[in-house]
Amino acid sequence: VSLIKTISLKSLGDERGSLVALEGNKSVPFDIKRVYYIFATKEGVSRGFHAHQNLKQVAVCVTGSCRFVLDNGKSREEIILDSAATGLVIEDLTWREMHDFSQDCVLLVLASEHYDKADYIRDYQKFLKAVVK
Ligand code: TYD
Repeated sequence: VSLIKTISLKSLGDERGSLVALEGNKSVPFDIKRVYYIFATKEGVSRGFHAHQNLKQVAVCVTGSCRFVLDNGKSREEIILDSAATGLVIEDLTWREMHDFSQDCVLLVLASEHYDKADYIRDYQKFLKAVVK
């Protein structure tokens, strides 16, 4: 099974343009407790480099593009997000890295939990140990 799980977000387009609606426990497979977005990322900057003990997320590149690397401790896969109609599902205990942000990239992230600094695993070796458990 692929590490990369995407959800197709229905674009409610008409002659005026497009609209995508996201609803917790419907198109998004959890209760949404937090929303944030990453934008104006400086050229050549990569972000992420951490996993979470207990946090599910869905990432949507609303404008522009970026490249996601996901790693579950056994394999590493990547996907380029460049569509406002595609959500990338990131499960618990998944190491993520984001690279190659386009200048105009706006990366919207929906999260299943409130921000919790203590939930981050920022050390890759610690991540590998946590995965084995
Ligand atoms: P960080 O998690 O380091 O970003 P990245 O996705 O690159 O790993 O977050 C950057 C800063 O923002 C850091 O100081 C923590 C803060 N932050 C919050 O306060 N709330 C949040 O929901 C998030 C995601 C980050």
